[in-house]
Amino acid sequence: MNMMDQPAYSFAVDILSKNGFSQKENSTFFFRLSNSIDTIKDLYNEIYGRTPGAQQSFGQLILSLAKANSERGKDLIKRDAEKGKTGDWFLSNELVGMSLYVDRFAGQLKNMKSKLGYFEELGVNFLHLMPLFESPEGESDGGYAVSNFRKVDERYGTLEELVALRKSMQKKGMYLMLDIVLNHTSHRHEWAEKAKKGDPEFQNYFYMYDDRWIPNQYDASMPEIFPESSPGNFTFIPECNKWVMTVFHNYQWDLNYMNPNVFRAMLDNILFYANLGVDVLRIDAPAFIWKQTGTSSQNLPQAHTLLRLIKQCVSVATPGMALLGEAIVAPKEIINYFGTGDFLAKECDFAYNATQMALQWDMLASGETKVMLAAQHEILKKPEGTSWITYTRCHDDIGLGYDDYMIEQAGKNPYEHRQFLKNYFTGIHPHSPSIGALFSSNPKTGDARISGSLASLCGLEKAINDQNEFSIQRSIQKILMMQAHSFFIGGLPMLFYGDELGYTNDYSYLDDPGKSYDNRWMHRPIIDWKKNEKRKDKGSVEYEIFEGTRKLISLRKKLNVVADHKNLSWIPPHNIHVAGFLRQFGGKKLYGIFNFSAETSFLTWFAFKEIRPVPEKLVDHWSGQEFEIGMDHEYLIMEPYSFYLFEPIS
Ligand code: GLC
Repeated sequence: MNMMDQPAYSFAVDILSKNGFSQKENSTFFFRLSNSIDTIKDLYNEIYGRTPGAQQSFGQLILSLAKANSERGKDLIKRDAEKGKTGDWFLSNELVGMSLYVDRFAGQLKNMKSKLGYFEELGVNFLHLMPLFESPEGESDGGYAVSNFRKVDERYGTLEELVALRKSMQKKGMYLMLDIVLNHTSHRHEWAEKAKKGDPEFQNYFYMYDDRWIPNQYDASMPEIFPESSPGNFTFIPECNKWVMTVFHNYQWDLNYMNPNVFRAMLDNILFYANLGVDVLRIDAPAFIWKQTGTSSQNLPQAHTLLRLIKQCVSVATPGMALLGEAIVAPKEIINYFGTGDFLAKECDFAYNATQMALQWDMLASGETKVMLAAQHEILKKPEGTSWITYTRCHDDIGLGYDDYMIEQAGKNPYEHRQFLKNYFTGIHPHSPSIGALFSSNPKTGDARISGSLASLCGLEKAINDQNEFSIQRSIQKILMMQAHSFFIGGLPMLFYGDELGYTNDYSYLDDPGKSYDNRWMHRPIIDWKKNEKRKDKGSVEYEIFEGTRKLISLRKKLNVVADHKNLSWIPPHNIHVAGFLRQFGGKKLYGIFNFSAETSFLTWFAFKEIRPVPEKLVDHWSGQEFEIGMDHEYLIMEPYSFYLFEPIS
């Protein structure tokens, strides 16, 4: 790129002033730009430096940043400044999130305002609204097949209603997360429609081929994501007689980021969302955004470069918006989405702790902590200043994608262990109370993931069917233990709507042809507000789960030792059934101790003596009970699936 002839900042200032952006009026923007422009240029160059017209397209990128910055609302600029003062605002222990579908939760966006009190009652102050932008009914993948990135789907309401909701939320001190579906569009997006009509400019927005020659090469090394409902990675498009890459469903066309126009258009969409007032942007499926034959086309270095570039651009144009990379990949790959090398902690601010989530389920099924502990050397690499989204369930399946060696280190055979987990969560195993289903089984590889709601996987559905009060109580205990584990381990806890009340699987999706092929819908409930009212009936299942969840949230908010300062260590495994971690910060300590066994467990008091100063007494914030630390040969006794949140006291 011959823009090298001119220093990048002077190049940018020239373009901006020619287009009416004056340094005087936008001094803070220009300051941020001057600090980042060299990095932005290098990252852009790395990917697009050799494309025709690179200098001009780089100039347009700078204009996009200035334009987005100039369109940023005053309220958001103020909010950016406040966030800047607090530093890493998103590491706070006071944030607690919930992920929900607006239609299934409240019908429409306009009804959401009246539900804000519900979140306040529970303590949730951060909402992830599942995709709201236009998406064809029946071919929508829950909104992850977007046909218009700027238009709220009529099913939910309007853009104005979304902004109004955001404003009401922010007045109450709440935060908003939305998705950008970066990897693909719906086949009904105007770019795809133009491509179908034969427009070469837009065919170049996708991976489109005349025959199977290149698709076969990709397919040879790319895994299948939805092998049952959408096998292979390409779909034939009769309208233009071409094959197009469709890694997910056949109606989701993969965007071709080798084309700089695609990057710029999607960056504009990202900045558009930032200016709607999004606090955290969930970048959907970032692992997939760069493809290369001969590779799995996941987690490629170019995908990371593009994310770093997005991070830099957002920090300059709309600095208050943090980024979450939804990379549900192998443990050692997830960690790279926080950035590596010179870009450590300069890529995504958040990633899902999908490894720990899956391992919590592994512990629940096996009653043992060994596999989970074998994964920690990867998980604990997360850099300071970044954070996890911690969760027990979300709208997706539970993948068992942790590495075989982790299972082997626990003395188990990986194939047999995964087989056991699949049997356990689908209720085939004789000791399992779970009712779940296998999702995306691939007979070629033997892989499968798991669908099912938190409550059903914890045995509540079966216990209610059997009218077994003991089992009902036990499943409530499991639900709360799973939530406690994810609330206190470090990161922003993200509840999945309905789990706060123990919603069990919903099988109505089977009657809807637009959903029946995808059993993830079994754990995406339709909220029945009469049922939710039962949270007020003392003694009801809903009351117990809601109150327990509410209490855990309020405890988390009080204990700032659990803010995510990379301050987690695991206590040595004195008992293979008991997971125990220590959080330490600012002279404070909190032990989270969890018995994943169906039996009573005994933990030597010595476990609390390995880190000095040795406390004399512990107070359990969950029960309010105090415990004296006993002799090494004496034990803390733990009921099945019980947990303690211990703070040392003297
Ligand atoms: C993400 C979403 C998932 C969707 C996929 C394709 O993984 O969480 O629900 O199916 O991306 O967009």
